[in-house]
Amino acid sequence: MPFLKFTSITKRFPGVLALDGVSFSVERGTCHALIGENGAGKSTLGKILAGVYSADSGQLFLDGQPIAPSSPLAARELGIAMVHQELAFCPNLSVAENLCLGDLPRRAGGFVDRPALRARARAMLATVGADIDPDTIIGTLSTGREQLVQIAAAVGTGARIIVMDEPTSSLSAAETADLFRLIRELKARGLTLIYVSHRMEELFALCDNITVLRDGHHIATEPIPSTTPARVVTQMIGRELRAQTPAHLTRDLGPIRLAAENLASPGAFTDINLVVHAGEIVGLAGIVGAGRSAVVQALFGLDPAVTGQVRVNDRPLALGSIDSALAAGLGLVPEDRKRQGLVLGLNCRENTALAALPLLTRLGLVRRTAERALAERYAKRLRLKTPSIEAITAGLSGGNQQKIALAKWLARDCDVLLVDEPTRGVDVGAKAEIYQLLDELACEGKALLVVSSELPELIGLCRRILVMREGTLVGELPPASFSGAALMQLMAGLPAA
Ligand SMILES: Nc1ncnc2c1ncn2[C@@H]1O[C@H](COP(=O)(O)OP(=O)(O)OP(=O)(O)O)[C@@H](O)[C@H]1O
Ligand SMILES: [Mg+2]
Repeated sequence: MPFLKFTSITKRFPGVLALDGVSFSVERGTCHALIGENGAGKSTLGKILAGVYSADSGQLFLDGQPIAPSSPLAARELGIAMVHQELAFCPNLSVAENLCLGDLPRRAGGFVDRPALRARARAMLATVGADIDPDTIIGTLSTGREQLVQIAAAVGTGARIIVMDEPTSSLSAAETADLFRLIRELKARGLTLIYVSHRMEELFALCDNITVLRDGHHIATEPIPSTTPARVVTQMIGRELRAQTPAHLTRDLGPIRLAAENLASPGAFTDINLVVHAGEIVGLAGIVGAGRSAVVQALFGLDPAVTGQVRVNDRPLALGSIDSALAAGLGLVPEDRKRQGLVLGLNCRENTALAALPLLTRLGLVRRTAERALAERYAKRLRLKTPSIEAITAGLSGGNQQKIALAKWLARDCDVLLVDEPTRGVDVGAKAEIYQLLDELACEGKALLVVSSELPELIGLCRRILVMREGTLVGELPPASFSGAALMQLMAGLPAA
């Protein structure tokens, strides 16, 4: 008898059949991968199991018994928890208060029993080997540590099944390694994990079985040892994916479009000198916290404290002003697209056209046909999954929101495009399209500066890679010396092998 069984699970949202008769089983004590294109239904399936949504039809079985968790609390009582990517806690309360929120230990008189609260939190943190002071305010923890507290909350309250939805998308390499160690240990203790991720290498390193969803349909469930990444990609997107060498790499470079000299911002970075030519894609590598995002944000005018000189198309740029940056022809696709990149209440067409509005406006009127054509074009190329480009952005899956945020800036005709983590949370098929789009922009003579934590992405895309560590540039690699090992060594500041 399977431990956990999904039978014919169907879930409809307005205009979308998110899951269509999905059936598969999960074995006890395994890590079960869930993969599929953006909008395939992975998060929806996880949320049904964790009591966030209920299925329209179909049945879940746990240990052979039918279950229907009607709320996250009801799921908890069945031993099912979900580790969310979004903040799941009250950011201004302490770790201990968050861990015991539903059941604060009290003394006679009703006051919270602080020592008991701390002790209980400490015990829960210990179950996952977390070395975190229970009095720390949640909001001050890094994403990785906050996630660890979420896992402690799950394990500490007796969870037998934990759903993890893209847990590593904003973790550093070291935090990821820690998480993997913990997952293996939880498995050894008999816990079952459902692991959603777009990172194929992670799934193959970590998971025992893999389930592929496509357009809300179940395509396959197979043991990891009997499948391959290429086979999984084909199952996911229904076609084969061929790696292409970017065309810009063999073109001649144009004049310098972006030049930064002695760029510095107190507490963030110092001594930044770099140039990007027309037709060039330059990568910016570094570990989380090295200052890469701070640099591109400062170039785009978001940092009032920045000093130094920046020239765009050989004209000096007034620092600290987004208006000047835009007028000079700079564009920034930010890392945190939910907060900085998109208006979630607008529809897909409006969001896509937002940054390109100056180009679409004639005599103060937005040309609707042009706007629609633009949105349709990018929706098609990025394989956007939405009932229509008129659908409200908030209802789209995480990865599809990312695609729109990216389309918005790609659609604007910038001479210099700063791109922070272009493919975070995006499926493999769309990744290939994004690389192609960036390559096309470079071939058109634009200058691109790309921040990425995915080294294969930088290696495959860039003409040069700059490496940052602790707020400063520590090296530059030409294509001949591109390798994951060389980059890692510079990023971490290790002596040359
Ligand atoms: N609350 C909602 N309201 C409306 N539609 C929704 C809602 N949640 C999900 N959907 C739709 O259901 C489909 C499946 O979404 P889901 O979030 O499960 O995808 P996913 O596989 O997790 O994708 P991603 O990799 O982008 O996170 C999508 O078409 C999405 O737009
Ligand atoms: Mg999702």
